[in-house]
Amino acid sequence: MSGFTYNITPRTEKPELPTTLGFGQYFTDHIFEMDYSPEQGWHNMVFRPLANFSMHPATMFIHYGQAAFEGLKAFRQNSGDIVLFRPDKHFERLNNSSRRLCMPDVDINLVTEALKELVKIDKDWIPSKAGESLYIRPFLFGTDAVLGVKPSKNFKFVLLLSPVGAYYPEGFKPVKILIQDEYVRAVRKGLGECKTPGNYAASLLGAEIAKQEGYTQVLWLDAIELKNIEEVGTMNIFVAFKDEVVTPQLTGGILSGITRMSVIQILKDRGYNVRERVLSVDEFIQRYNAGEVTDVFGTGTAAIITSVGELKYKDTIMPINNGQVGELAQSLFTYLIGLHMGNEVDRHNWLQLVEAGR
Ligand code: COI
Repeated sequence: MSGFTYNITPRTEKPELPTTLGFGQYFTDHIFEMDYSPEQGWHNMVFRPLANFSMHPATMFIHYGQAAFEGLKAFRQNSGDIVLFRPDKHFERLNNSSRRLCMPDVDINLVTEALKELVKIDKDWIPSKAGESLYIRPFLFGTDAVLGVKPSKNFKFVLLLSPVGAYYPEGFKPVKILIQDEYVRAVRKGLGECKTPGNYAASLLGAEIAKQEGYTQVLWLDAIELKNIEEVGTMNIFVAFKDEVVTPQLTGGILSGITRMSVIQILKDRGYNVRERVLSVDEFIQRYNAGEVTDVFGTGTAAIITSVGELKYKDTIMPINNGQVGELAQSLFTYLIGLHMGNEVDRHNWLQLVEAGR
C-alpha cells in the first residue's frame, strides 16, 4: 500500500477520554509523517508513535515561517461508521497555501489514504458524542537549516490527531466579539488566504486586547481602509439581514473556509438569498439600528457554527438576539451536527468513509 512504513505500538487498553475535551489538549498515540527533498520528492512515509521532533536551531520555518496547516475532522457516527468531512477540499486548500509559500504540493490521494489509515490506527480515540470529533491537523514546513532568507528545499509533512469538543470555552453559547480597528490580521495579496502560522501570530495581540475587555474573539477589518468586515481569524462570519444572508467575499485577504463554503451551499439549498459581497461596518451598524439584523454567526471547522451574542465597535455595543442563540445559527448547527453523526442525508457527498461500523 503506497509505500507506507508502519512503526506502530498497539495499545493494550482503550484510551480513557476525559468528560470535557476542550480543544487541542489531548493527542492520539500516533502520527503520520513524510519528508520531501528535490531529488526524491515525498518519501519516508511512516506511521510512528507520537514523539517530539529533533530540529537544528536554524531550521528555516522557525525563523521565517515557511509553513502551512489545515484543520479537518473525523466523526464516529451513530451507526459506528467513521467518516471524514470534505478531506479533498482541505488538502486542495493546503496545496494552495503551499504554492503561495514556495512549498511543494502533496498528492491529495496519497495523503487522504494516509489520513484514513492513521484514523483507523488510532480509532479508539474518536469521541462518539454529538459535537465532539477527532480534529486532524495536517501541516507542512521547511526543514533546511540555513539562516539566509530563501525558500527551503526540504520539507516535512505531518498528520496529527486530537480528540476535541467545543472550540470556545462558552461551548455553543453565543460569543462576544470585538471589532478591531487598530491592528489588522492580513492584507489582500499578502498571506491572508493561506492557512499559515503568520496570520495567527498577527492575530494574537488583538485577541489579547479583546480578552482584557471581556470579548472572546476579534472581528478583523480590511487592512487598507479598516472599513469592511473580513473574518474572525478562527472562523468566517455571516450576517443574516431580513432579506439576505451576507458573508464577506473572498478578497485574497480572507481564508476560504470549507465550513463557509458548505454553509453557503446549505443556505442556497434552503432557498435563502445568500450573498458573498463587501459588507462595511457602517452598513452593518446602520442596518442593525434599523432592526434589520436577525442573526450573526461564525463558521469554521473548529468552531462549527458559533453564534455571536454581541459585537462591539469603538464605543458602540450591539447585542444580537438579546445575547441568545439565533434561529438560523441554531438550525445550521443542528443540521451540521446531524450530518456529521449520520442523521442527515449527505446529499452533496461531503463525507468520506474511513471504516464501516460493526
Ligand atoms: C480550524 O477551524 O480548523 C482552525 O484552523 C481554526 C483554529 C483552530 C486555528
